[in-house]
Amino acid sequence: MSGVKSLKIALLGCGTVGAQVARILLEDQTEITARSGAQLELIGIAVRNLSAQRDVQLPDGLFTTDAEALIDAADVVIELLGGLDPAGAYIARALERGASVITGNKALIAAEGATLNALAAANGAQLRYEAAVAGAIPILRPIADSLAGDHITKVMGIVNGTTNFILDAMDSTGAAFDDVLAEAQALGYAEADPTADVGGHDAAAKAAILASLAFHTTVNMDQVHCQGITEITAADVSEARKTGYVIKLLAIAEQTEAGISARVYPALLKRDHPLASVRGAFNAVFVEAENAGDLMFYGAGAGGAPTASAVMGDVVSVARVLASGASLPAASQLREPVLSEFTEVTTRYWVGLAVNDQPGMLARIASVFAEHGVSIEAMNQSAAESGTAQLRILTHEGSEAALSSTVSALEALDTVASVTSVLRVEGN
Ligand code: HSE
Repeated sequence: MSGVKSLKIALLGCGTVGAQVARILLEDQTEITARSGAQLELIGIAVRNLSAQRDVQLPDGLFTTDAEALIDAADVVIELLGGLDPAGAYIARALERGASVITGNKALIAAEGATLNALAAANGAQLRYEAAVAGAIPILRPIADSLAGDHITKVMGIVNGTTNFILDAMDSTGAAFDDVLAEAQALGYAEADPTADVGGHDAAAKAAILASLAFHTTVNMDQVHCQGITEITAADVSEARKTGYVIKLLAIAEQTEAGISARVYPALLKRDHPLASVRGAFNAVFVEAENAGDLMFYGAGAGGAPTASAVMGDVVSVARVLASGASLPAASQLREPVLSEFTEVTTRYWVGLAVNDQPGMLARIASVFAEHGVSIEAMNQSAAESGTAQLRILTHEGSEAALSSTVSALEALDTVASVTSVLRVEGN
């Protein structure tokens, strides 16, 4: 097409997502050119193994093992290798040359986002990573662009499909965590080593990215309080269900009076909360903004074609800027982060206790909550083995510090056999 700027695209990685990106770039070239105002030419795909089996039939001539030479010939680099190394060095190399970069690498952005954004700005390049959070769901550009004229107060997301699949199956079948995890692994929903998902680390990287964009600052992954779902029992899930709640692993970024809080933990949500309806391996992100009010974004959080859709949105967006010759302001990570300590976070709590069922036991337990300034909203007692009972106590809002000292004092009571669970309650 004459008069249309031509942009050379380098793709690093040809796994589940990379193969779909290559397919879309080759199949939809005419439409993408019309939408972006630039002719996009896929000049090569860097892979480790030239003879590996691919999900999509692609021309052999595109493949190379020389990633650095490919990067040096490109206007736009799409990094879909994952991991910190060598992906970080490749992205830095591209940005230093002034090439724009699109990546789905949440671990890298959560660890090095500020440095890479600064490198992009210093070299007049763009860095985009929509695919890093919640797969196909457009969430980073809505936060960074559509809501740029508003004040976001809280972002609360189900951003890990594996854990949502597990918790949803526990909720609907009553099965135990280990059994559902084994089933999820057999179905291919969970990795052979599920630690990053069930330990909450994948969600924590996404929480760091959401917090950074929502509050125009830099929050790193190691500043996110992270608790996974491995301790959630079938009894927790069924008791929550009986009380009108569902347990979800939530990634939360919140502007509190004490500063920004970024946290990941399993929490109870009322069954009529919009996030409670997110079933199976789907993701959703609930955003609260001063002027917009409540918004919810829902869709596939992983998978080849869905995640490739997010990558391609970034490709077209980057190409539009390059085609127009405009220069964008640097990413809005302007503010020095003021982070709250986790102990300063206030929520409601749901505390499970195995107790010796003796006269005066309830009064003693209630007084421990009162002494630590944590107000009880509701209490439920069910008989367990002879002479013992299971208590579930729902509290009004209190600080993590107050809750923590309450739990220590409860553990010291001789009427309390054990504190069986401590979960947060989120949503209104
Ligand atoms: N393992 C993630 C999930 C997808 O289960 O949602 C990639 O972040």
